Amino acid sequence: MRAIISAELGAAAKLADVPTPSAGPGEVRVKVAASSLNGFDIAVISGYMATLLEHRFPVVLGRDFAGTVDQLGDGVEGFAAGDAVFGVVLDYPLHAGGFGEYVVVPSESLARVPGGLDLTTAGALGLAGAAAATVVDAIAPSPGETVLIMGATGGVGSVAVQLAAARGAVVLATAEPGEGTRLLRRLGAHYVIDRTGDVIGQVAAIAPGGVKAAVHLAGDPYALADLIAPGGRFASLLGIGPDQMGVRDVVALPVNADLAPAGLEHLAAEVVAGRVEVPVQRIYHLEEVPQAFADFAAGSVGKLAVHVG
Ligand SMILES: NC(=O)c1ccc[n+]([C@@H]2O[C@H](COP(=O)([O-])OP(=O)(O)OC[C@H]3O[C@@H](n4cnc5c(N)ncnc54)[C@H](OP(=O)(O)O)[C@@H]3O)[C@@H](O)[C@H]2O)c1
Repeated sequence: MRAIISAELGAAAKLADVPTPSAGPGEVRVKVAASSLNGFDIAVISGYMATLLEHRFPVVLGRDFAGTVDQLGDGVEGFAAGDAVFGVVLDYPLHAGGFGEYVVVPSESLARVPGGLDLTTAGALGLAGAAAATVVDAIAPSPGETVLIMGATGGVGSVAVQLAAARGAVVLATAEPGEGTRLLRRLGAHYVIDRTGDVIGQVAAIAPGGVKAAVHLAGDPYALADLIAPGGRFASLLGIGPDQMGVRDVVALPVNADLAPAGLEHLAAEVVAGRVEVPVQRIYHLEEVPQAFADFAAGSVGKLAVHVG
């Protein structure tokens, strides 16, 4: 099958022919229609993930997938060929990915694509959407509470802004001036903080005693923590927890995306209902993924989707 791979540690993404995988017991093979880029993929290409996860090369890149069930392994129940499904590849050692024409995943990791949701959107929803939902659940904002989201224009942040606003929070979200600022306003951020300017002054003008909670998706975690009111919550998807926060008077919550199908299906239903938007800014064909990585690394906003098959 055709796939975008990293051939060895630190190797750049390239199109290659690799063996088509088969579904083993309890597994499902999905014919992939769509996927999307995530920061995780950049970390794999750069070799950074090798310090955290074992790799089995060639590694097919891409964490997200959406497509149709193509082959059922022994013992799989509840799915049939042709079912529309989506999810996130959790393959350890790292080997399989969504940037290939087929991907094999455990059946219990599969979420169903609801009627009314196209596969391009489903393929851009998985990892970023789940991460956004998990991190907003972690800070659990009450109506009227101020929440500062740092790194808000990316795939995770653009969904997190909407989920926090839907809970009634007053959302402050960082962006560079321009496209990202316009996107965040459209998605419901109450205040867009120009992260190239005086961030401390801008936040103090809105929340003089500090914000009640902050979501850390990029940038300096300590500078962000200093903008939180005493006793406030700080949730990071970048592994910053209480040990790193030291004596600061904040509740530090390190978070990893909850990728359970129930949560993914709930998010998908929210998208169908029009309550959450997955802001796909551009769609690439599979062979264009190396260019997509370059665009992502150069600073894209929202999600970059990939049409695989
Ligand atoms: N632990 C988990 O389970 C998990 C799951 C998913 C994602 N993540 C991590 O969460 C992070 C966000 O993911 P993503 O896919 O949304 O990434 P992304 O699309 O690259 O978005 C990150 C955003 O941060 C902003 N940014 C960059 N440098 C910044 C800085 N110094 N200060 C403030 N903002 C800055 C950029 O927007 P502007 O330039 O417009 O400000 C960028 O759009 C990534 O690091 C990813 O690896 C973790």
